[in-house]
Amino acid sequence: MTGSQSPPRFAGKVVIVTGAGSGIGQGVATAFACEGAAVYGIDVDRAAVERSAQAASGARGQFIPLVADVSNPEQVSASVAQVLAQSRGVDVLVNNAGINMGRRIAQLELTDWNRVFDTNLRSVYLYSKAVWPSFASRRSGAIVNVASVMGQVGGVTAPAYCAAKAGIIMLSRCLAKDGGPQGIRVNSVCPGYIDTPIMDRAFEEAPDPAKARQAVIDKMPLGRMGSVQDVAAAILFLASADALYISGTELTIDGAVTATQID
Ligand code: NAI
Repeated sequence: MTGSQSPPRFAGKVVIVTGAGSGIGQGVATAFACEGAAVYGIDVDRAAVERSAQAASGARGQFIPLVADVSNPEQVSASVAQVLAQSRGVDVLVNNAGINMGRRIAQLELTDWNRVFDTNLRSVYLYSKAVWPSFASRRSGAIVNVASVMGQVGGVTAPAYCAAKAGIIMLSRCLAKDGGPQGIRVNSVCPGYIDTPIMDRAFEEAPDPAKARQAVIDKMPLGRMGSVQDVAAAILFLASADALYISGTELTIDGAVTATQID
């Protein structure tokens, strides 16, 4: 893996990406490394994040694997302390780690609710708070949070997930306003159907997984599910110098599937 031959956009930058062991997080962390960054890829699954780092070993930057559970305050603090001990400060934080749980309200237990909220939303608060002093002291920093179209339009089969993702969108806006005077930008992305293991698992719950996948593709105005690269490109843009006046907003990456709701 050598990345493109154009000058690396993130040379010398220090980036944290959570959930870097699989899917979107792996793709985002790898893309930053290909653009010259020192990327700390964090995941609760040690083997997965070490595989991701190994796969990115030819990149122009570095992919350094770290293990932490993003819902655990002590582990979040320890992982950020480790990054700060090894670097001169953090430039970009991508809060990507997340889980889905397709349970309607009748089946949704309090433990499910807490697990979804702790992994998807509390983690964004914990990591943002942990990197904030580093950003503020250097009067510069960018956070990109991975929300979802399900935080914009909702869905009956996953109320906890949708509510947590909507929370990410609002938290991002609040932090953007707070951080603006300190040179900190905060945005979120709202992916639609992206072809990753999280979707494979969702399709596998259907009676006919291949049919379920095709039904999703048939709904797509652009005729396909999104790729990890589609999401990575948007996240790198929001974190880059091309987006210096973009903060407090959401970028939807869904192939127009939620563009209209009525027909
Ligand atoms: P994935 O399941 O392929 O990858 C998620 C990664 O996060 C895994 O490596 C997993 O080990 C890690 N992770 C889970 N819980 C963790 C924890 N407590 N601490 C640390 N790491 C943890 O999922 P995918 O599809 O790449 O999703 C990434 C993000 O994108 C999630 O926040 C998801 O909600 C969001 N998203 C995904 C969409 C899709 O269609 N795939 C659509 C919209 C949003």
